[in-house]
Amino acid sequence: MQLSIMLKESDKATLQTQIFDQIRAMILNGRLRGNDPLPTTRELSAQLGVSRNTAVLAYERLVSEGYIRTKPYVGTFVAPDLPDTAFFSSSAPETAPAAPAPLKDGGLTEPLRDMRTHRLADPDRRRLVADFWVGKPDARSFPLKAWSHHIKARLKSAGSELTTYSDPAGLLELRQAIAKHLAPARGVVCDPEQIIIVGGCQDGFNLVGRLLVTPGSPAVVESPCYQGAAYVLESLGAKLHPVPIDRDGLDVTMLPQVEGAVAYVTPSHQYPVGVTLSLQRRIELLAWATQYNAYIMEDDYDSDFRFVGSPLTALKGLDRNERVIYLGTFSKCMGPGLRLGYVVAPRRLVESFRRMKMLMNNGQSWLEQAAMADFMSSGEFGRHLRRIRQMYRERRDALLASLHKHFGECEIYGEQAGMHLVWKLPDRFPSAAEVEAKGLAAGVGVCSLATGSALRFDSNDGGDRLLMLGFVALTEKEIEEGIARLATALRS
Ligand SMILES: Cc1ncc(COP(=O)(O)O)c(C=O)c1O
Repeated sequence: MQLSIMLKESDKATLQTQIFDQIRAMILNGRLRGNDPLPTTRELSAQLGVSRNTAVLAYERLVSEGYIRTKPYVGTFVAPDLPDTAFFSSSAPETAPAAPAPLKDGGLTEPLRDMRTHRLADPDRRRLVADFWVGKPDARSFPLKAWSHHIKARLKSAGSELTTYSDPAGLLELRQAIAKHLAPARGVVCDPEQIIIVGGCQDGFNLVGRLLVTPGSPAVVESPCYQGAAYVLESLGAKLHPVPIDRDGLDVTMLPQVEGAVAYVTPSHQYPVGVTLSLQRRIELLAWATQYNAYIMEDDYDSDFRFVGSPLTALKGLDRNERVIYLGTFSKCMGPGLRLGYVVAPRRLVESFRRMKMLMNNGQSWLEQAAMADFMSSGEFGRHLRRIRQMYRERRDALLASLHKHFGECEIYGEQAGMHLVWKLPDRFPSAAEVEAKGLAAGVGVCSLATGSALRFDSNDGGDRLLMLGFVALTEKEIEEGIARLATALRS
């Protein structure tokens, strides 16, 4: 067989690189498919008029980057297991820029590791009239003016801080500001030294997981739970122990009697259902962790927003035996694009956390940390929180009122706090997935648990009747219009 390869003497790239680039482009364009045979290096060198060694070196590079495989005594073939995402569209020109080589897990010819990932956003939903997507703050409320002021001021005064490595645990000023904020806001009393700045909760899950999970070690998760955390634990080889939740949160009587687990929980506003873990159960959960040497990973992702009563103390605030690792994020109250969050580590783990953070990425960007520290210590953060809390409360009220107006009495969970609530659909309605499909057809985005990044372990848990509605990124008018449209779509 012959490959259509054109070599140019005038090209700056070596002949070997030109052969490599063109065969790779044929694979990525789909012109060569998995398992397609390739000419032998002897045939290729004869066809192209290059030395055999040039062809051999080009093939060796394609093999080492995982594009092709050689089978001894049989021949050379296109690798069968390139992921779909490796391919350009068939209309892409052959000279399309090189895609990064797929990462390999283990030897050159091992298949790619198949990791499950959560959904962050769905670009198709941008065209919707109203999208009640969960977990998305109102981008319009980002304090842009104050933020650019702090960034500019820091840039002006930046010396070597801007360019050197600093403490992987994060900028001390920011850690001090967070410690000062956490005590009154969440009842978490800690030293700034216990705080590790991370790239959002997701980075925190990885940090905790890499430190505490070994292949086969037990990890307790809520059932259902947040995919982003469960998939990290799963990817590290943890054995997941799902524990059901009810109206009072995690059913602590179902906790496994195993030593040394990591337990991932969302006590303030359970993800996805929205219920709050009762005080009695908090105490029992802490006692379980002490008894079985477990660490609890408390994800307090949207606790800045509590609309009914005073803010509940975080589980960490009750933690006398230092079994709780607290995770907070600026993704919800500022914006997820910042990629800033924090972990409050038990004292005995602080040094290990710092070292692991160093191994992972040497810490977060200095400039954003500095701006966040200034934004907090100037008092602007507190004012910003109060302002958006009020705005989000009004949006939540608008959603509850619209649901009531169009659907009558609704069974709602999780409306006291957070950025989304959950509606248990009445029996006369189809399943949440079907409601979601009808909504989308009418230009309204609502989420079933699966779309809302929730992981279910029990198909009989009633989760297919739960509809998640994020309300903070829509105006009251958009909320009313969205729910009215949904009602019309469901009637038809
Ligand atoms: C329950 C829960 N925890 C954590 C996160 C992740 O937040 P971050 O942006 O801080 O990684 C999310 C994101 O939506 C979430 O829903």
